[in-house]
Amino acid sequence: MRTEQPQTIYLKDYQQPDYLIDETHLTFELFEDHALVHSRLFMHRNSQEQGAGLPPLVLHGQQLELRSVALDEHALSAADYQQDEDSLTLQPQAPEFELAITTRIEPQNNTALEGLYKSGGMFCTQCEAEGFRKITYYLDRPDVMSRFTTTVMAERGAYPVLLSNGNLIASGDHEGGRHWATWEDPFPKPAYLFALVAGDLYRIDDSFTTMSGRDVELRIYVEPENREQCAHAMDSLKRAMRWDEQVYGREYDLDIFMIVAVNDFNMGAMENKGLNIFNSSCVLAHPDTATDMAFQRVEAVVAHEYFHNWSGNRVTCRDWFQLSLKEGLTVFRDAEFSADMNSRTVKRIEDVTFLRSNQFAEDAGPMAHPVRPDSFIEISNFYTLTIYEKGAEVVRMLHTLLGPEGFRKGTDLYFERHDGQAVTCDDFVAALEDANGVDFSQFKRWYSQAGTPVLEVDSHYDAASSTFQLRCRQSCPATPGQPEKQPFVIPLRMALLDGEGREIPLKLAGEGQGRGTETVLAVTEAEQVFVFENVSEQPLPSLLRGFSAPVKLVYPYSRDDRVFLAMHDPDGFNRWEAAQSLAVDVLQGLIQIHQAGRPLLLDQRLLEMYRSVLLDPQLDPAMVAEILRLPSEAYLIELAEVADVDAIHHVREWARLELAKALVEPLWLVVQRLGAEPGSYSADAAAMARRSLRNTVLGYLMLTDAPAALSACVQQFVEAGNMTDRQAALVALVNSPHEQQKHAALQEFAQRWSDYPLVMDMWFSIQASSPLPGGLERVQGLMKHPAFNIRNPNKVRALIGAFANQNLANFHRADGEGYRFVAERIIELDRLNPQIASRMLTPLTRWRKFDPARQELMRAELTRILACEELSTDVYEVVSKSLA
Ligand code: TRP
Ligand code: ZN
Repeated sequence: MRTEQPQTIYLKDYQQPDYLIDETHLTFELFEDHALVHSRLFMHRNSQEQGAGLPPLVLHGQQLELRSVALDEHALSAADYQQDEDSLTLQPQAPEFELAITTRIEPQNNTALEGLYKSGGMFCTQCEAEGFRKITYYLDRPDVMSRFTTTVMAERGAYPVLLSNGNLIASGDHEGGRHWATWEDPFPKPAYLFALVAGDLYRIDDSFTTMSGRDVELRIYVEPENREQCAHAMDSLKRAMRWDEQVYGREYDLDIFMIVAVNDFNMGAMENKGLNIFNSSCVLAHPDTATDMAFQRVEAVVAHEYFHNWSGNRVTCRDWFQLSLKEGLTVFRDAEFSADMNSRTVKRIEDVTFLRSNQFAEDAGPMAHPVRPDSFIEISNFYTLTIYEKGAEVVRMLHTLLGPEGFRKGTDLYFERHDGQAVTCDDFVAALEDANGVDFSQFKRWYSQAGTPVLEVDSHYDAASSTFQLRCRQSCPATPGQPEKQPFVIPLRMALLDGEGREIPLKLAGEGQGRGTETVLAVTEAEQVFVFENVSEQPLPSLLRGFSAPVKLVYPYSRDDRVFLAMHDPDGFNRWEAAQSLAVDVLQGLIQIHQAGRPLLLDQRLLEMYRSVLLDPQLDPAMVAEILRLPSEAYLIELAEVADVDAIHHVREWARLELAKALVEPLWLVVQRLGAEPGSYSADAAAMARRSLRNTVLGYLMLTDAPAALSACVQQFVEAGNMTDRQAALVALVNSPHEQQKHAALQEFAQRWSDYPLVMDMWFSIQASSPLPGGLERVQGLMKHPAFNIRNPNKVRALIGAFANQNLANFHRADGEGYRFVAERIIELDRLNPQIASRMLTPLTRWRKFDPARQELMRAELTRILACEELSTDVYEVVSKSLA
């Protein structure tokens, strides 16, 4: 156990900084075994105190070797300041002063990948959230914004490229083969947006002319062997820049925008001003090596980081409790961008599926927290699905309530009013309110209350008065520290369908005007009734269209109702939703039957619904693929009171096989209809949709023991002209009982792609995700593979993460060995990279969901982790809260 208890930080304790930093001048001397960081800070006192009441200047700093401190060019001695593990405290007397500090650090030994570190042969930085304090002593908080000038010095041979934020203003050579470059960023920024890169990098150039006619240089820097894999990222960047101009009126503000791809990175990417640093997995994409999913991820992440230039950088966060101010808004913006670039409905289905199986689980677990948390121990633990995904849903609801024009008026005011400032979620909402003359005080409970609300709706049709009543009741389960919840504002997008599935005109009692055939009801009370008039027949409601609020909707639909909606709802999203909820209902019923030891029988309505979807040539193939995908095990676990993992896995696999057997003919028909993949690859939505359906169908066909399926799969694996099809074939083979073909394919794949780390990540994760027995032993074997490296977060996610998150049958082995394996890896990782160790804990934190025996085993592992000496604050916080 750690001796000192880590401190909890509270939002209510927020205070303005006592000092501010007007200018930051940094000089980095980079060497193989250390780096020297010289900083000159031009500061002034921010507080009004005088004389004896002068506040001390407390600079943040961690793992720094302090070489020198000078105040207004007078060197200080150790008696003039205090130093501890996390800070350096001095007492300047003047209201304005210059502070010069030199620190020594060792980037080559930085395995936490926070601060200045080495990835392969290059130096790079990651400063969000609190990494800058591992570079030099500083006021490392987002409300301290400063203008940065940065000089980087390194050996020219190994590090010909020297980059930092802003514009290059000077460069030159030193003796002994060293050189230097000076960059100046004219925009004041918090330290978390600082970046530096030094390496031997290949540069891809392009340009963009902004809406006001300024030319911006665009550059992507990658390791030379990846130079052929940048075109998609560059195209995505240009599309994102144009989109932000068109949809938000936001123009880029520097003359140069750079992206650097690195192999070792804790997250997806980072929006450092003018110099975004990316996990290579979110930049590189070539049809031979990246799947359609990877292409879409690159497009989304490039856009996300670019959009941060306004939602995050020009207007930033006052403190880290406001993280969702930038992340929720930027995720919403990137989701809308992706929706505009591809299929809107499919994008929404993917996002809702992800939110419901992962964020809902977080909201129901021990780490549940509001979109704007009240407290934290380690801020790195709060880069969560709640901050990002639920935060984006909150912004989406504001967009829904205001409409696109009202929302745009609001964001225009927000960006104008707060340009150059560090602000709060309240400031964001206030701008939307002021621009539209509305009151969102009740709505703001979405920021302060955790937990997923339940919206129970029932209805009553009265033929005599031609009225249809919808009764809505909302509640929200207790979450840590929040036993009681106040009612939320829930935007309920809905329509009423007649017997043919047509939308009927909506007129609410008490309103003069009709509402067209689709409307958004604002549910604001714990219980609330809406009465529709002039309803001439019993309608079927289509509720929560487009998932208009992040809630659990409960409505007493019969299975026949769901089939009807799946076939007839004019709203594509809700058609999918009806099919999905029918499948959930059927599987949940089967799980009970299985638990009672009775024989399983598939509801023919599900089968027939799938059959007609398969045979409908009018439907978007991507939609067909989404409908055919059964709800995931993770989602079924989330929905269960006590999740019976064995039953869930057994029943879901059984249903897949039943479906495959019963639908063999239409499945083959679809294969024929789609035809062979055209020779040349295209990443457009239509081509992706065809591949998505063809590969979903292949997955089903491979469950049957038809030799034709196996040979089609092997043929696809061998002849595929792109990685999407090759990967899908490999997945099907790995999960099949055809040992010989499986091993041949795995071996061939590993040989062919051994020089491509991202492709090898896929190879690891396909195997780590396979639910066939012996999964743990396979993963343990793969840990010894030469391509595996526990210091590389992508490898950890591909192997250990995939095992713990995608392979529920093996992770939840009844003997607890899956838990033990993951716990041991967490302990090992915590010494190297606490952020990654902490993320690997998520599946174990869900222990309350499972049967008593598994609960006991999972808790035992958490307890064992907690007992370790020198635990990071990251792991300590998650484990201790999970056990509380
Ligand atoms: N702001 C980054 C984003 O766009 C998040 C991020 C990147 C991050 N790297 C990080 C957060 C490292 C914490 C630690 O989402
Ligand atoms: Zn972000």
